Amino acid sequence: MEYSDKQIAAQEAVRYIKDGMVIGIGSGSTVNEFLYCLAARMRKERLQVVGIPASKKSERLATELGIPLTTFATYQNVDIAIDGTDEIDDQLYLVKGGGGSLVREKMIDLVAETFIVIASGEKKVKKLGSFPVPVEVVPFGWQATEQRLQQFGCQTNLRMVEEDIFVSDNQNYIIDCDFKEIDDAEALHGSLKQIVGVIETGIFINMVDKAIVADNGELSILEK
Ligand code: A5P
Repeated sequence: MEYSDKQIAAQEAVRYIKDGMVIGIGSGSTVNEFLYCLAARMRKERLQVVGIPASKKSERLATELGIPLTTFATYQNVDIAIDGTDEIDDQLYLVKGGGGSLVREKMIDLVAETFIVIASGEKKVKKLGSFPVPVEVVPFGWQATEQRLQQFGCQTNLRMVEEDIFVSDNQNYIIDCDFKEIDDAEALHGSLKQIVGVIETGIFINMVDKAIVADNGELSILEK
């Protein structure tokens, strides 16, 4: 059987899981592959772990696979977070939120003792920005927030699902901001966060401890 790059990265990531760990579970199709690998290891090795999921989708799949879940009410820190990405640059800075779960992902990834990002090769970029940066905003006055975002030189799109406005798990909206190329991701993130109405951006700076990238079957492990 031939494995996809997402599967290869997920198989490698699951090797970092140890008995007793509290795992931050990101979101997306690569994380789904990780959950399949984790469930297999749990069955085979009787591994006991608990997960805090970053999205309702991850929560559903983990539950289906019999992976026990918990919340921040019980654990305020996690041992390891495994998450996917939409873009990753040489500094291991990320753009995330293609699936709309950026706020919870950032909260989970940030508190993790070790944050491992898993990705297929096409996520690697020289410069962030060709993937539009998802920005989660308060629904009230989103049109005004959008105008302020545009002042930073991006084209904006309120995220939709067919005819309806996309609503995040936190009941907020997402404005996708197309910058084409971002010169200083850290500064941009800082500026966008100053806008009242912005809850969080999909730019993840200085958070990744390890990136597991599979590119046409070839695995590389990048560390900060
Ligand atoms: C979800 O909101 C995102 O941050 C995902 O981590 C990202 O979109 C990667 O998704 P895939 O693993 O499906 O490519």
